[in-house]
Amino acid sequence: MRIIFFAGKGGVGKTSIAAATGIKSSLMGYKTIIISLDAAHSLSDIFDLGEGLFDYHKGKAFQVLDNLFIQELDIQEELEKNWGEIYKYFSSLLNTTGIDEILAEELSIIPGMEEVSLLFYINRYVKENTYDVIILDCAPTGEALRFISIPTALEWYMKKLFRMEKTLAKYVGPLAERIYNIPVPGERYFDAVADLFGKLKGVDEVLVNPRITTVRLVTNPEKIVLKETQRAFMYFCLNRISIDAIIMNRILPEDIKDPYFLNWRKDQLSRMKEAENLFSPVPVFRVKLFDGEIFGTDRLRQLSDEIYKGIDPLDRLYKDEPYKIIKENGAYQMIIKLPFITRENVDLKRISDELIIRIGGMKRNILLPRHLADAKTIEAKYKGQDLFISFKGEQNG
Ligand SMILES: Nc1ncnc2c1ncn2[C@@H]1O[C@H](COP(=O)(O)OP(=O)(O)OP(=O)(O)O)[C@@H](O)[C@H]1O
Ligand SMILES: [Mg+2]
Repeated sequence: MRIIFFAGKGGVGKTSIAAATGIKSSLMGYKTIIISLDAAHSLSDIFDLGEGLFDYHKGKAFQVLDNLFIQELDIQEELEKNWGEIYKYFSSLLNTTGIDEILAEELSIIPGMEEVSLLFYINRYVKENTYDVIILDCAPTGEALRFISIPTALEWYMKKLFRMEKTLAKYVGPLAERIYNIPVPGERYFDAVADLFGKLKGVDEVLVNPRITTVRLVTNPEKIVLKETQRAFMYFCLNRISIDAIIMNRILPEDIKDPYFLNWRKDQLSRMKEAENLFSPVPVFRVKLFDGEIFGTDRLRQLSDEIYKGIDPLDRLYKDEPYKIIKENGAYQMIIKLPFITRENVDLKRISDELIIRIGGMKRNILLPRHLADAKTIEAKYKGQDLFISFKGEQNG
C-alpha cells in the first residue's frame, strides 16, 4: 500500500504528473486511484473521457483504464453523506445572525471540509486495502499545507476543546439560547463531531509513515517557484511527512537552437543546479517541456516515461525520515530535518503537554508523548539541516 502526494505551486504541472504517475503504475499492474483535491478539478479533462463522460459520476471512484480509477470530490455530495448534523448546526447558526438562508447554506461549507472528506476516503481505502496505490493531486501549495495539518488540528480540538464545549453546551447552553437567541449545539451535533473524528482515526499515523506516504514536490526551474518549493519542503518536514522526490517540470529541451530561447535555457540551467544543491540528498527528477499540452492517455504515457524512465513509481525514491525520536544518555531527543532556516527564526514554546514550534510565519503544535512532556528543560540546537530538540530531566521528580 502506497500513498503519493503531488504538491506544488499553481500551474507547475501537478495534475499532469499525478495522472502520468497513475498511468504508469496501472500499466505495471498496480491497482491505482488518483484523487483530486483541487477545487478546479481537471482530472476528468486530462483523461479526455470522450463518450465515457456520460457515465462519469463526480464524487465516486470512476474507472478510466484497466487498474486505473479517478475520483474528484463533490462537496455537495460529501455534505449530505458525512456532514449532515454539523452542517445543519452551522447553517442554523448563520441563519439566526440575519444572513439569508441561501447565503447561510453557502457559508456553512466549513473551511477544511473538503480536505477532511478526502482524509475519510484515504482512511477507508487504506483500512479496506482497496488499492495498491492512492495518488493525490493536491491543490496549490497553500491549501495542500492546510490539509496535512488537519489531523493534528483535529486531535488538538478533540483533546482540548471538545469536552469542554460539550459540557458548556449542556449546562449553560439553554440559558444562552434564551438570552442571546442563538442556537446552541445539541447532543446530535456533538455525536456527529465524535463520529467524524472516529472516521479519521489512524489517518495521521498513515500520513507520517514514510513506508506508506511520501510527497513529491512538483516545481519549475524559476526563481519564484523554487522559493515556494523550499517553503513547502520545510513545512512537510515540520509536519513529519517524508518527501521522496522533487520533480522539476517544464525544462526546455537541450537541442534548442533558437536564440530567443537560449537565454531562457541558461537561466533554467542555473536554477536546476541551485535546486540540486538545495534539495540534496532528495533526488531531483527532470522533465522536459513537451511540444504541446498534456492530455489523453498517449501523452500521459510519454510524460510518465520521461519522469520515471525505468523506475517503479511506487518505490520510495528517497529513504531518510524527516522526524525521529531517539534516546541518548538517558535523555530524549527529537530530530526534525528542517532545511532552509537559520537559528534566529525558530521559536519553541511548551504549554503543558504541547510543544509549539514557530518558524517564520509557520506554526506547528506537537502533542508530546507523556515521557517527553514531563521533561524539565527543552532546548533546541542546529546541526547541519537538523533541528535537535532535547528533553532533559523529569519535571515531577
Ligand atoms: N512538461 C510539460 N510539457 C508541456 N505542457 C505541460 C507540461 N507539464 C504541464 N503542462 C501543461 O501545463 C498546464 C498546467 O498543468 P497542470 O494542470 O498539470 O498543472 P497544475 O499544477 O495541476 O495546475 P493547478 O495548480 O492549476 O492545478 C496544462 O495545460 C498542462 O498540459
Ligand atoms: Mg491541478
